[in-house]
Amino acid sequence: MDLTIILDANAALPLHQKLYEELRQAILSGRLTPRQRVPSTRSLSKSLGISRTTVTQSYEQLLSEGYIQTVIGSGTFVCAQLPDDLLRSIPTEPAQKVICPPLKLSQYGAKLAEAERSLMSEPIAPINFRYGRPAFEQFPIKLWRKLLTRHCQIDTTWLDYSTDLLGYKPLRTEIAHYLSRARAVQCEPGQVMITNGTQQALYLVMRLLIDPGNAVVLEDPGYLSARRIFLSQGAKLLPIAVDESGFVVKDLDNYASEPIKLVYVTPSHQFPTGAILSLPRRLELLVWAQQTGALILEDDYDSEYRYGDRPIPALQGLDKSQSVLYIGTFSKVLFPSLRIGYLVLPPHLVSLFTQAKWLSDRQLPLLEQRALADFIAEGYLERHIRKMRSHYDLCRQTLVQALKAHFGEQVTILGEKAGIHLMVRFQIDLSDAEIVDRAAQVGVGIMSAQAHYLDAQPNGEFIFGYGELSPEQLQEGISRVAQAFRK
Ligand SMILES: Cc1ncc(COP(=O)(O)O)c(C=O)c1O
Repeated sequence: MDLTIILDANAALPLHQKLYEELRQAILSGRLTPRQRVPSTRSLSKSLGISRTTVTQSYEQLLSEGYIQTVIGSGTFVCAQLPDDLLRSIPTEPAQKVICPPLKLSQYGAKLAEAERSLMSEPIAPINFRYGRPAFEQFPIKLWRKLLTRHCQIDTTWLDYSTDLLGYKPLRTEIAHYLSRARAVQCEPGQVMITNGTQQALYLVMRLLIDPGNAVVLEDPGYLSARRIFLSQGAKLLPIAVDESGFVVKDLDNYASEPIKLVYVTPSHQFPTGAILSLPRRLELLVWAQQTGALILEDDYDSEYRYGDRPIPALQGLDKSQSVLYIGTFSKVLFPSLRIGYLVLPPHLVSLFTQAKWLSDRQLPLLEQRALADFIAEGYLERHIRKMRSHYDLCRQTLVQALKAHFGEQVTILGEKAGIHLMVRFQIDLSDAEIVDRAAQVGVGIMSAQAHYLDAQPNGEFIFGYGELSPEQLQEGISRVAQAFRK
C-alpha cells in the first residue's frame, strides 16, 4: 500500500520518534483505519529513503503501545481496538466531526446545498416500481462481453488523449445514421457530441447558455433532474402545463413579456405524464422558437419504445432554423451505468461545446465507445430495441390490466403508449405520503408524482416504472398495493 508520510525536518526528535508520531497521528486521525494493513518495514524504508532499522524501531514502539499488531504470515495491521484512553479522543467518524472554518460556497454550491435534502436515495422495496430502469436480465450480456473483449486488444495508440474531441468518430457516425433512420434527425457526425448521459448534456447546455436570472421554460410536471440543473444556475423557471397532447404550446403566450432563453421538452414520452407531443404542437413550437429566437432543448427520452402509434419525427428533424439542441441516451435502451448519451448540436455551437466538454472531462473511456459503435453497426441495437419493445409491451399490458382489475373506476391511466413507465391517477381518499407508506408496508415501492410539479401539486398521481419487473411481479405488486389501500 502507498502511505504518504512527511517527516518534519525541523522537529528536534530522533528520526524513529518522528516517524512514530506521524504513524500514530495517521491512526488517530483515521487515515489508517482499524484492521488496515500497514506498509512493510522494507517498503516504508525504501519509500521514505531512511534505514530499515529506523522504521523497525518506530513499529516496535507502536506495537508495544497497542496501535499495531503483527499477524504471522500475513503482515502488520492497525489494531481493531486502540488503547482506551486514546479511543475516547478519536472521533468515530473523523471526516464528519472535524470543525471546519466557515466556507463561502459559490452561488452554484450554495444552490446545490439548499437542494441537498431532496437528493436522498430511494429506499429499495422487494417489488419496486422505480422509473427509468430497463430489464437488466434481458440485456445481451454475453454479446456485450464479446464486443468488449474484441476491443480489449489495445495497442499503445490508445494511450494518449484522444484528438477526437466530440467523442469516438465511428460511434458518432453510427449514432448520426441511427438517428436519421429512427427519429428523422438531420445531422452530420460532426454535430454529434458523445456525452456522459443526458445529464452531462443538460449540464453543458446550462453552463454555456444560461445565466442566473435567465428565463427557462419547463414542462409542469417535468423531469426533476433537468429542473435541478437549471435551478442550480439560478435560472428563472417558467412552468407550462401538459395535457394529453403534451406541452401546451399556446400557454407560452402567458410569458409574452419574458425574454425566454430556452424551452426544455420531452416530446416522445413526456416525463412523467407520458403524453406524446402532437405534430401540430411540434410545428407550433418550432414557429414560436423561430419568431422569438429562443432555443429548444429536446430530450428525446423514451423515443425507442412506442406501442401502436406511428412515430412522430423529432423536433430537430422538423426544424428549419437551427433552434433545436437534441439529447438522447443509451441509459434505457442498454443500461444506465454505461454513461453514454449524445447531444446533437446546431453547427454553429459545435466548437463552443467542444471546448466546454474538454474543460469538463476531456473524453469518455474509449473501450465502451468502441464496443457500442460495433453494437450499432452490426445491427444489434435495433434488434435489441425490437425485442425489448415486445417485452415491455407485454409488461405494460399486464400492468394496465392489473390496475384496471384491482382499482376499476378509481384509477385513470396516463401515458401508456410509449416508454417504460406510466402515470396513474388514483381517486382514493388518502394522502400521497400515506399511500407510499401503506405500499411500503406490503413490500412495494411506488413514487408520487408530486415532486415533479413546479406549481400546484395534485394528490393521488403516481409514476409506475415497469421496465425492471416481470409480468408476475407486476401483477403481484398491484395486488399488494390494492390490498394495502383497503386496510
Ligand atoms: C426525462 C429523462 N431524460 C433522461 C434520463 C436519463 O438520464 P441519463 O442519460 O443521464 O441516464 C431520464 C432518466 O430517468 C429521464 O427521466
